[in-house]
Amino acid sequence: MPPAVGNPADPPPFGLYVHVPFCATRCGYCDFNTYTASELAGDASSPDGWLAAARAEIALAARTVGDRTVQTVFVGGGTPSLIGADRLSAVLAAVKEHFPLALYAEVTTESNPESTSPEFFARIREGGFTRVSLGMQSAARHVLAVLDRTHTPGRAVEAAREARAAGFGHVNLDLIYATPGERDEDLQRSADAVLEAGVDHVSAYSLIVEDGTALARRVRRGELPAPDDDVAAHRYELLDARLRAAGMAWYEVSNWSLPGAECRHNLGYWHDGDWWGIGPGAHSHLAGRRWWNVKHPARWAGMLEAGERPEAGGEDLTDEQRHTERVMLRLRLAEGLPLELLERDARAAAARAVADGLLVHDAHAAGRAVLTDRGRLLADRVVTDLLVPEPASASGPR
Ligand SMILES: C[S@@+](CC[C@H](N)C(=O)[O-])C[C@H]1O[C@@H](n2cnc3c(N)ncnc32)[C@H](O)[C@@H]1O
Ligand code: SF4
Repeated sequence: MPPAVGNPADPPPFGLYVHVPFCATRCGYCDFNTYTASELAGDASSPDGWLAAARAEIALAARTVGDRTVQTVFVGGGTPSLIGADRLSAVLAAVKEHFPLALYAEVTTESNPESTSPEFFARIREGGFTRVSLGMQSAARHVLAVLDRTHTPGRAVEAAREARAAGFGHVNLDLIYATPGERDEDLQRSADAVLEAGVDHVSAYSLIVEDGTALARRVRRGELPAPDDDVAAHRYELLDARLRAAGMAWYEVSNWSLPGAECRHNLGYWHDGDWWGIGPGAHSHLAGRRWWNVKHPARWAGMLEAGERPEAGGEDLTDEQRHTERVMLRLRLAEGLPLELLERDARAAAARAVADGLLVHDAHAAGRAVLTDRGRLLADRVVTDLLVPEPASASGPR
């Protein structure tokens, strides 16, 4: 069952995102705000400096939002596991010092397989973390090599098992599919490995060639072919079928889980919730205003040390922007988008999408736009149709 939409009268959920901007090496496809030691050489950034500044921003967030209960915490990166269990636990201790933390709060950390161990998982579990998300990407050695991943194919599965043995009931593995050189059987093997690991959540993304990355340069030079959209769609179907057969259901286009194991933090983003992003380059959203922090770790830490807000920019969202985001995000959820959020032309476009087999007929009849299996492959097209609909003809649906 997809998670229920909250009661409109409830306050939006409130979460904290904490960005750890360190990685041991840079994967060629990644354009996240993260730095290797050599990229930071010569400036004041260090894991301890980062921790001191993160504590200062947590205190700033609490002074700004008052005593709002934190429902979810997500420590992401970068590579949070690289800063070690004690610093991760110290982050959570600072959250608890400054905010009420909900009794059943979801507290996740991302981790890279190669910088984890049974002791690491035991210590972050003791520190109060409830969920671990591991970057596996693929079970095929040659695919990991194209992605510049430094772990062996087996290490991610082993790490997931270690996390479960340390008491984590909620473990996610991230996959990337349609990497150049990946074959159908490589992805089948990745899916099998994920299922053997016994995790309750899988996120899978089609490889995106981001501008400015080493991967983009290799594709431009002709060393690697660009990922192919048809191959990506076929791989998505393979993965979905395999996960579905094992009892996992999609609840967002790129996310599958066992029932009840959906990531509540990410659902907060997709449900228009409020969150404060702590860390360099982190984005925040509170009651229709969003802002983002300065990107460089030393500059971010320096501003906090000087008692300044580390904001680089921000904007008050217009009603139109909020509507656009709501349609884009909710349509990607299995629970779908209430049709009442759409204007007349967009409702007509939704009716056409049902006729084209892109939205589920019965859900539509019950007042929701829910993607069909084929619709998931063409989700961006359906979003565009609903946001920039052709005018409804006089004879069209109302
Ligand atoms: C930015 S990483 C952070 C977590 C951790 N460092 C790791 O590598 O797993 C989060 C996830 O984003 C996904 N990702 C990052 N860049 C991507 C890209 N260009 N295309 C597809 N997926 C990407 C990967 O699956 C990765 O596991
Ligand atoms: S994918 Fe993960 S490990 Fe690789 S550079 Fe990006 S954040 Fe770091």
